[in-house]
Amino acid sequence: MGLLSGTRAVVTGIANKRSMAWGIAKAFDREGAQLILSYQSPRLKENLDKLLSELSQDPLVLPLDVVEENSVDQFIAELSSAYPDGIHTLVHSMAYANREDLEGRFVDTTRDGYMMAQNVSAYSLTALTRGVLPLMEKAGSGSIMTLTYQGSVRVMPNYNVMGVAKAALESSVRYLAYDLGRQHIRVNAISAGPVKTLAASGVRGISAALHDVADKSPIGENITTEDVGNAAVFLASDWAKRITGHVLYVDSGLHMMGFLGG
Ligand SMILES: NC(=O)c1ccc[n+]([C@@H]2O[C@H](COP(=O)([O-])OP(=O)(O)OC[C@H]3O[C@@H](n4cnc5c(N)ncnc54)[C@H](O)[C@@H]3O)[C@@H](O)[C@H]2O)c1
Repeated sequence: MGLLSGTRAVVTGIANKRSMAWGIAKAFDREGAQLILSYQSPRLKENLDKLLSELSQDPLVLPLDVVEENSVDQFIAELSSAYPDGIHTLVHSMAYANREDLEGRFVDTTRDGYMMAQNVSAYSLTALTRGVLPLMEKAGSGSIMTLTYQGSVRVMPNYNVMGVAKAALESSVRYLAYDLGRQHIRVNAISAGPVKTLAASGVRGISAALHDVADKSPIGENITTEDVGNAAVFLASDWAKRITGHVLYVDSGLHMMGFLGG
């Protein structure tokens, strides 16, 4: 028996084997959750198909592009017809900003670039949560989680518009947690340290961020997607049943450090 035996978990945002979402899917699989996975585009589905043999199950795999309203509706409709008894867990692991908005000055962000980052990286959590709500009500309880980064609360040069989107995302976590708490649906965020994923490679300075964790964090080691997966198992499990509206840092402790000397 794993910690998540008897639960059904939707994991979005797997682009390849380096994705945070893949670390989470593998940890959920290990703990006995039944998985439903999504992919953004046919090209990414090819990547996902190659990974599936690493799992102990053959999960339902569905397309989902969160900027397309129809795609979100179709995704929820397919989930509802496949699992009329409901689902227990939703992992929101996606973000996007135009490359030119992830360098230089934040003040130069265009309206379109700002809206794009908010749409994919923040609003999609609310849209997906609203969609899965009836399914979690059927299941009797639920755990929703998203992935965020410390650039929401501190200035990280080059993170720019994504930091502002992550601030909106973390605030959404709190408002959603308030809305859904009485239905025993919890909403939390994992604030992960840097990992060289596809999305992270679009952020200038990712190498410096990795160096900072190894050099300046209390634990002095970079994190892995397995670490994120294990934290996600905890948040999905009953051991976290009184934890909601929380941002859980998985960053070797770097977030608490100041940088005056030392
Ligand atoms: N890698 C890091 O250092 C780091 C640190 C903290 C938080 N995060 C967060 O983790 C999450 C996952 O990113 P990752 O680092 O695993 O990179 P990744 O590139 O592996 O995953 C990003 C995912 O977002 C998906 N996505 C983008 N636009 C989408 C859309 N319109 N519809 C549906 N899906 C869409 C992509 O398909 C991809 O699967 C993001 O929210 C990211 O900000 C990453």
